[in-house]
Amino acid sequence: MQVITRLALEPMSHADIATVQAIERQVFVSPWPKNAYATELSHNPHASYIVLRRDGDLVGYAGLWKLGSEAHVTTIGVRAEDQGNGYGKVLLGALVVRALELKTHWLTLEVRSGNLHAIGLYESFGFKAIGRRLGYYTDNGEDAIVMWSDSLYSQRFERNLMRRLEGIDAAGLDLAAAYGKPAGR
Ligand SMILES: CC(C)(COP(=O)(O)OP(=O)(O)OC[C@H]1O[C@@H](n2cnc3c(N)ncnc32)[C@H](O)[C@@H]1OP(=O)(O)O)[C@@H](O)C(=O)NCCC(=O)NCCS
Repeated sequence: MQVITRLALEPMSHADIATVQAIERQVFVSPWPKNAYATELSHNPHASYIVLRRDGDLVGYAGLWKLGSEAHVTTIGVRAEDQGNGYGKVLLGALVVRALELKTHWLTLEVRSGNLHAIGLYESFGFKAIGRRLGYYTDNGEDAIVMWSDSLYSQRFERNLMRRLEGIDAAGLDLAAAYGKPAGR
């Protein structure tokens, strides 16, 4: 018997916050304060947050801020027991789609210098380290690596994105449409 897993990306809602925060406490050294997501969803016009569900179960989430022509990745997290299954890739792909919808040209982010898993994910999407902020994380004094994507509209970025997400079927992740192409191109 073949088991079919359904993945779906949706905007984060207030009803998701408790689960998001439970994942956040599990996978981040310094989770955001209690009301941060509620404030982001209700009061931050620059913010977009999404959740990834597997068969209805929330397994990960991600967000960005649109700041002019840049989209700044504010967070991305996958439930500990579900990491390493490609969900981080799907969420980052969904952030690219959102960034394109918002007509931004680049994605940028900060990541802990020791977070090799996340850095590997970003590098696999063509992000480059362009700077280091010394002692940026006050909880342990770790440096932040500042990373930037290529232009989201460059052929190189688009081709790599398509390749990285090839064969992944997730409702709400329509890369072709985000690039203004007919489905299947
Ligand atoms: C970072 C995170 C979101 C990645 O999610 P994930 O579902 O585990 O990642 P994926 O399975 O989609 O892996 C995506 C890519 O990451 C890279 N990667 C995965 N495991 C890696 C490892 N141990 N070391 C280096 N790179 C790794 C690979 O490029 C991989 O792609 P591939 O399997 O096609 O080669 C997840 O590990 C997480 O929630 N970590 C804790 C929170 C966090 O650190 N967030 C980032 C803050 S900047």
